[in-house]
Amino acid sequence: MQAKSQSVLGQEIASEPHLHFPIENIRTCFPALHRAPAFTFFDNAAGAQVPQLVIDAVNHHLLDCNVQRGGRYAKSQEVDATIARARQSVADFLNARDPSEIAFGMNATSFVRLVSLAIGQTLGQRNEIIVTDMDHEANVATWLALEKEGARFLWWKMGEDGNLHADDLKPLLSAKTRLIACTVASNALGSIVDVTGAAKLAHDAGAEIFLDCVHYAPHGQMDVQAFDCDYLVCSGYKIFGPHMGFLWGRRELLQKLRTFREDFIPDEPPGKIEAGTFIYENVAGMDAAISYLESLGKRADAVGGGEKRDSRPANLVRAMQNIRAYEVSLSLDMLRVLNECGAKVYGLTGEKNVHQRVPTLCFNLPNISPASVTEAVARAGIGIRDGHMYAPRLMKRLGLRQDSGVVRASLVHYNTPEEIQSFGNVLRDLTRHG
Ligand SMILES: Cc1ncc(COP(=O)(O)O)c(C=O)c1O
Repeated sequence: MQAKSQSVLGQEIASEPHLHFPIENIRTCFPALHRAPAFTFFDNAAGAQVPQLVIDAVNHHLLDCNVQRGGRYAKSQEVDATIARARQSVADFLNARDPSEIAFGMNATSFVRLVSLAIGQTLGQRNEIIVTDMDHEANVATWLALEKEGARFLWWKMGEDGNLHADDLKPLLSAKTRLIACTVASNALGSIVDVTGAAKLAHDAGAEIFLDCVHYAPHGQMDVQAFDCDYLVCSGYKIFGPHMGFLWGRRELLQKLRTFREDFIPDEPPGKIEAGTFIYENVAGMDAAISYLESLGKRADAVGGGEKRDSRPANLVRAMQNIRAYEVSLSLDMLRVLNECGAKVYGLTGEKNVHQRVPTLCFNLPNISPASVTEAVARAGIGIRDGHMYAPRLMKRLGLRQDSGVVRASLVHYNTPEEIQSFGNVLRDLTRHG
């Protein structure tokens, strides 16, 4: 059957509920999903589980080559080879032009800080930075810290529908705009931003765009060439890898970036961005996470009518398309369950907008505090989260108190419709009996 499709961020997503997604097979790849006691994990926006391949790669690294890179002996050379392979894998995953555009490090926040500190040194006449009130604070406060360097800030405000819109961005741009910092998907509301449109507006104004892809990454295809962005950050632990982060930047911009490095390190990416030692075993795990995703792309045809695609980048694209299509049905099921429970869902609530979101939903139940909801759900063996979701400005926009905030359920492709129904049963019980 040829599925109907819709285009979001220039990417095709099947709009039929997904019949062929090999969910049972996928779940067997994640040992943590089968540990006793039974546990349903709906807190993936805070970090996802890892497939066995990742555990094996980290173990192999620690057992067989837990040594410093750059030596002349075999184990050290294996570390160099692992890092080079991981860099190529991430480059394939992002559709980067060259692996040297990828830098590895601790997490996304430290990379936002590294780039912002560098940009802060070169502001001059173009000293305006556009930030949003929908972003995770890691991509807001880091930029606001440049006030001392003479930066001025303009706010790209979220629309009433819970998403950012180009029409609200246009009037903020001028010959003074240095950079737009925005997310690809809201880590609280799940809305997907038209970052390609924002990049075009930025470039027309002679500015750059810095994308926070942390939340979008496990849900859809990252394509730095299609996004036409200038910088992009991501955390490996949200995309089925271990705790680590990576930065992508246009090579010519990375070459100019002022970073701290010792004098003996050449002023060339990626080395100039990776001063010191990073977590090699987790970089090995990240490489394995991409192999896992590649293996998904090789599996049974679900989108695109059975066309044979076997290059690594094509398999990765296919994997992310299949994930997107499956997750649309998870979003729909979640919206229906939350509606039935009388929940107030924040952001994109309509079923017709389901393609504009990932299955991350923030809500509140009438007259029950967010903390009481998550505690009740936890007693039923389901992990969700309450609070401000590291987006205090967004909470304010939604008229919510920062200390109590919202309840967030965030799903990924290993979650199932059955888990959503069990979650719904717990919420229904709670609304009936308090
Ligand atoms: C959208 C978004 N941006 C940035 C971050 C910070 O990422 P890291 O923990 O890798 O610094 C997070 C973490 O949850 C996030 O969800």
